[in-house]
Amino acid sequence: MKSITYQVAAILTGCLVFATASPAPLSDKCYYLPLPNIPPSAANRTVPWGEPTITFPNGTTCCSSLDQVRTQLDTIDAQLLEVLAQRAAYVAEATRFKPTESSVDVPSRDQQVLQEAVDGAPAVHLPQIIAQQVYESILNASIYFEDCIVRLFFDCYRHIGQLG
Ligand SMILES: *[C@@H]1O[C@H](CO)[C@@H](O)[C@H](O)[C@H]1NC(C)=O
Ligand SMILES: *[C@@H]1O[C@H](CO)[C@@H](O)[C@H](O)[C@H]1NC(C)=O
Ligand SMILES: *[C@@H]1O[C@H](CO)[C@@H](O)[C@H](O)[C@H]1NC(C)=O
Repeated sequence: MKSITYQVAAILTGCLVFATASPAPLSDKCYYLPLPNIPPSAANRTVPWGEPTITFPNGTTCCSSLDQVRTQLDTIDAQLLEVLAQRAAYVAEATRFKPTESSVDVPSRDQQVLQEAVDGAPAVHLPQIIAQQVYESILNASIYFEDCIVRLFFDCYRHIGQLG
């Protein structure tokens, strides 16, 4: 009996040592590019599975329902909208320093911004796939926006020129 207890204790200790010694949980692989090649899963779990993964500064954890998750997402989405508007304002401001329509887009600068986002994502625990896709979309859309601003300015300028 005693020896079995010791064996169990040894196995548990072994697991603990293994768990603390292993560098990162398996799911952390989903935070890096390239994403791991995982076979499809037919698992049908009883929800909610696992433990809440969010801890607020006051020490309470989240979340206890999908509604609670969505409420938090709605708040963050509203913040994202404001931050994107601020970014777009500076994109528009940048056009004041672009003398011609063809100088609007600077692909090397886009590439640098994108690479910095992807490289910096792990430090803030942002999945690199999200950093990559979102920044690519923001940069792509910003080119259209900046181009529109520049064209409208030149149209306006031409118009004023005609009047003068
Ligand atoms: C998952 O399991 C639940 C409970 O057994 C069942 O009602 C549901 O139909 C299953 N869903 C799928 C997609 O197999
Ligand atoms: C802890 O913080 C969260 C998020 O700010 C808040 O929703 C919750 O009510 C707080 N809980 C307590 C016990 O203060
Ligand atoms: C951004 O534009 C490039 C070049 O046109 C394209 O290859 C890429 O798929 C676009 N990315 C996104 C996320 O729209």
